[in-house]
Amino acid sequence: MTEILLEAGAIVKDFPLGRGHVLRAVDQVSFKLMKGEILGLVGESGSGKSTLARILARLLPQTEGAVWFDNEQLGGVSGARFARMPARRDIQMVFQDPLASLNPRWRAAEIIGDPIRRLGTAEEKQRMRAMIEEAAERSGLPPALLNSFPHQLSGGQRARVDIARAIVLRPKLLILDEPTSALDASLQAHVVRTLMRLRSDLDLTYIFVTHDLNLLRLISDRILVMQKGKLVEQGPARQIFEAPQEAYTKELIAAIPVLGQRRVDRSGRQTA
Ligand SMILES: Nc1ncnc2c1ncn2[C@@H]1O[C@H](COP(=O)(O)OP(=O)(O)O)[C@@H](O)[C@H]1O
Ligand SMILES: [Mg+2]
Repeated sequence: MTEILLEAGAIVKDFPLGRGHVLRAVDQVSFKLMKGEILGLVGESGSGKSTLARILARLLPQTEGAVWFDNEQLGGVSGARFARMPARRDIQMVFQDPLASLNPRWRAAEIIGDPIRRLGTAEEKQRMRAMIEEAAERSGLPPALLNSFPHQLSGGQRARVDIARAIVLRPKLLILDEPTSALDASLQAHVVRTLMRLRSDLDLTYIFVTHDLNLLRLISDRILVMQKGKLVEQGPARQIFEAPQEAYTKELIAAIPVLGQRRVDRSGRQTA
């Protein structure tokens, strides 16, 4: 039976712009995420994907709406209470640009062990080194690199440090915000392969934010399409690619270089 892992109900996020004006970055977004699923989240830059991802990961409070995780409501929960909830460990985020998100003064081992220091049990703190090594190995980071600082690592190695940090406490859900966008194509394929292996080895569920529709076509079960803060279409990946309903989705698919019937630029003009 398929179980719901996370549910978002009418999520709204307003950013104040001053003088009483607000920018509505996320506008009434509702969806369900099933256990074990890979849910793709697409949309042009500025459509609200990262803001929604951060709200789901509890890194940012929503203005309105609710998030349920494993049948517990997270929305409206105070920071202090959330800190004691299992969801705090069970939802982890992987970021696009690890050089910006990883603490430059910490060695890889300290970065990977940080969630254990903050959220681990006494028993886990005792096993910290072994847990760090296991997470690094699962993420494809050679143990010899655990003493390196982020700037001493390649882009692909930094992505693996961030992934190891995200899985070290064995979460249920990874929210991956453009995790491979900073990498070149061949590195990207390696990291995606690692992520797919991790998902089956550790029973993970993924929300995969990307503008790479070709990648989502290969890996995702269902896709959400965002435009200007709104969820304009959602459905099984196959349906989104083969029978998109909304003009915006059709435009996104037509713009894929290899798959589209023809190439269309951002203004809708046909190119060669
Ligand atoms: N902290 C913030 N303060 C003000 N505006 C923000 C903030 N974060 C994001 N925004 C704005 O919200 C909109 C959505 O941004 P974002 O969620 O980053 O989109 P995406 O990830 O799809 O590119 C953009 O217009 C962005 O400028
Ligand atoms: Mg973003």
